[in-house]
Amino acid sequence: MIKVGLIGCGFMGGMHAACYKQIKNAKLVAVADVREEKALAVAGEDTKVYATGMELIENADVDVVDICLPTYLHTAHAVAAMKKGKKVFLEKPACLTKEEGKLLLDVQKETGAIVQVGQVLRFMDEYLYLKKLNDTKEYGKLISATLARKSPLPGWAWEGWLHDTAKSGSVAHDMHIHDVDFVRFLLGEPDSFKTTVARDKDGVLSHIFTSFVYGSTCVNTEATWDLPADFPFSPSFLLKFEKATIVNDAQGLRKYLSDGGCEEIKLEPAFKGENDIGGNISDLGGYYVELKYFIDKLDAGETPDVAPLSEGVKSANLVLDEVASVGGAKI
Ligand SMILES: NC(=O)c1ccc[n+]([C@@H]2O[C@H](COP(=O)([O-])OP(=O)(O)OC[C@H]3O[C@@H](n4cnc5c(N)ncnc54)[C@H](O)[C@@H]3O)[C@@H](O)[C@H]2O)c1
Repeated sequence: MIKVGLIGCGFMGGMHAACYKQIKNAKLVAVADVREEKALAVAGEDTKVYATGMELIENADVDVVDICLPTYLHTAHAVAAMKKGKKVFLEKPACLTKEEGKLLLDVQKETGAIVQVGQVLRFMDEYLYLKKLNDTKEYGKLISATLARKSPLPGWAWEGWLHDTAKSGSVAHDMHIHDVDFVRFLLGEPDSFKTTVARDKDGVLSHIFTSFVYGSTCVNTEATWDLPADFPFSPSFLLKFEKATIVNDAQGLRKYLSDGGCEEIKLEPAFKGENDIGGNISDLGGYYVELKYFIDKLDAGETPDVAPLSEGVKSANLVLDEVASVGGAKI
């Protein structure tokens, strides 16, 4: 049984706690949140409750520290947990700055800690399907792709941290990073990129468009959380391979064959669960899969290697380069 301590019991922490309830070889033995009611809401009868993340890291008898804190608190807590000899699950984005990323990697090297970053698209069925098509070349070479993530401004964040670019890095660092990380997972580092952005009245980056070039393949990405409150959270993609175009949007996942014909694609979900904690994600899917993978690897004495810290830091660094190329997250 892998003993887990969860730090930060807000939107994502609540999601992780719900996942651990379904993972039979993990037990949530400790939780921490500066808002006691949030910690109590996810604690079981025999779960130890701590007032802060650092108290949990210092005192709790756990194998894993799972960090679901606002992004600006990731590095300090991950460093403390690694130095305490814990395995770490660190929500994305791994870090806020390149300096933080370097520190995380240095401490990992020094301590030998196992760290997985919550780059969840690497565990989602529809994105794994794309990865398989790209790796096997079942429909030929990838010609072009568009990946987008559109949303109203998230309203749930503790003390509004998401809306402060010094704490979240803006929509680019918080939401766009999902597609950037997946593109890196699919194709590696781009040859070049071009970013354009829109900003709100305060000069905060609110909509980002980046085209990544990989040889003759062009990948367009877009993310915004500047849409009207009633706009539904809308992740989507369109990938044109030589012999088929794969689309995922509000109409579902489907395949248009270059020779003609359209087929709905039914993937067997790795897990289907209910989410009763609010937020814009309607099932536990990839969150369950990534945590289950992490726990199973640890249980088997193996190193989880699908979304390691080094990859999380590289994705954060690429987004930082994109944002720097347009003058920063706030001007
Ligand atoms: N993988 C995904 O799809 C996904 C989705 C949403 C959020 N996230 C990430 O998860 C992280 C958390 O985001 P969220 O939306 O859950 O934020 P949130 O504001 O809902 O939750 C953060 C929680 O941390 C608590 N907290 C603050 N300081 C603390 C401290 N020192 N010790 C203990 N608790 C403390 C707050 O009280 C709050 O409950 C962020 O890095 C975010 O980018 C990932």
